[in-house]
Amino acid sequence: AVPILDFGSQYVQLIARRVREQGVYAVLVPPDLPVEEIDRLDPRGIILSGGPSSVHEEGSPRPDPRLLDHYLGRGVPVLGICYGMQVGCQLLGAEVQPAASREYGRVKLTSGVHEDAFLKGIPCETTAWMSHGDQVNTLPGADFVPLASTPTCPYAAVRHRTRPFFGVQFHPEVTHTPHGKDLLANFLFDACGCDGSWTMADFVEGESERIRRTVGEDRVILGLSGGVDSSVVAALLAKSIGRRCTCIFVDNGLLRTGERQLVEHTFRGHFDVDLRVVDASEAFLADLAGVTDPQEKRRRIGSRFIDVFKASADAIAGEGGGGPVKFLAQGTLYPDVIESGHGHTGAAANIKLHHNVGGLPERLGFSLLEPLRNLFKDEVRKLGEVLGLPEAMVWRHPFPGPGLAVRILGEVEPSGLAMIRRSDEILLEELVAANLYRKTAQVFAVLLPVKSVGVMGDGRTHEQVVAIRAVESQDFMTADWARLPYEVLATVSNRIINEVRGVNRVVYDISSKPPATIEWE
Ligand code: XMP
Repeated sequence: AVPILDFGSQYVQLIARRVREQGVYAVLVPPDLPVEEIDRLDPRGIILSGGPSSVHEEGSPRPDPRLLDHYLGRGVPVLGICYGMQVGCQLLGAEVQPAASREYGRVKLTSGVHEDAFLKGIPCETTAWMSHGDQVNTLPGADFVPLASTPTCPYAAVRHRTRPFFGVQFHPEVTHTPHGKDLLANFLFDACGCDGSWTMADFVEGESERIRRTVGEDRVILGLSGGVDSSVVAALLAKSIGRRCTCIFVDNGLLRTGERQLVEHTFRGHFDVDLRVVDASEAFLADLAGVTDPQEKRRRIGSRFIDVFKASADAIAGEGGGGPVKFLAQGTLYPDVIESGHGHTGAAANIKLHHNVGGLPERLGFSLLEPLRNLFKDEVRKLGEVLGLPEAMVWRHPFPGPGLAVRILGEVEPSGLAMIRRSDEILLEELVAANLYRKTAQVFAVLLPVKSVGVMGDGRTHEQVVAIRAVESQDFMTADWARLPYEVLATVSNRIINEVRGVNRVVYDISSKPPATIEWE
């Protein structure tokens, strides 16, 4: 593995991901992890991440003081990025000072010694992404080789003359540094001698082993929603601890057509987990009677979910055999960690609340097991494929915790649920048929609380309107409406109006986020 000492950079996970993309396993570790602990990871190389601190600040994070001697001495290369470079160079005798002018954003990077293996494949002039206040300003005598500079940063890339230490002041992990990938590859393959053969299958092995060790003789409970993340966790737990894991799937009566069946079929048919399906739809629908305010809907659904989940968990914990239930597994991904850490407000905060059933672990007194915490969404999908989950699950669009309740504007009633469920089913069928499902981020139907006039046969109708929402998005924080082909929209509209009783008009939502949100409620 290549451990990355996390000095607090907002990009630290991105470094890990860039390394994994090259087929080398990277793990984040605390910045001051003792060398004995790092040794256990059998490091082929070590990366010191960037961070918001200044090396001059009292209490700024530091590695184990033995780190550089320990590893450089035995030929394990170290790469310092930004703050990591400053810490490393300082420990090796260089002087770090506040930069005359801080550098943020794209800068021109000029390399002098471009025949150096560390710069292989990098043009003499290229751009790099900078974000720093301090910089290394003098390098002790003959110890370092300056490799690249920017107009205001004389040592934008350096290497030690005799020991395998490399430093870059810029951020090779971001896409704004176009040759950053080459630089990381040079470090990993030339300097560290990694072979780039790590795959997601190795992650499954390593993580399964870790889960088995952590769980021991205890049991685990997982709230399985049928979404990508919790399904991947379920599959991973099935593989590592089998029936020591109980998955609770709550049918809240607000699911799409076939959702519950897909979960049952997948996990009963192909995986060795203990799946409990709890049908609480009546209770959820009763809670929603007469409620029209979107946040109140969410609140009631969230609170009912916690009650139902807690009751099931208690019942399972009360069952004898198999050891005590000690863990609650969650499909938290790295972006969720970031979101909560950075305290997004509004919708994002709500997503957290429902998505990860906020407060549940504490209320239930469980320890958390979050095996996907270091991964990005696309890595989780890859993992799902490796674990053998069906394509329909691995490539699933996100579906909100409150389900169809927020896609029926106004009060949730059985008649509206039937209309939206069928409309949604038709829409998704046509999307898949047109080969557009994987090309869109999220697509769904919304039942509007208005009636419009229509004509069917000889009669005048006065029926409801369905809106189609299709968006493209990378992270769901911003989104644009998808330019679905007119023919697909025409088929969807025809089918919904003809096949869904009570709907006589279909409209297409052409709003971007912001200022609109993805959901209508
Ligand atoms: P918005 O509507 O805020 O949606 O642009 C962004 C993403 O979050 C999903 N979403 C939710 N997910 N509980 C969830 O689990 C919620 O209450 C919720 N509200 C929105 C939405 O589907 C989209 O993917």
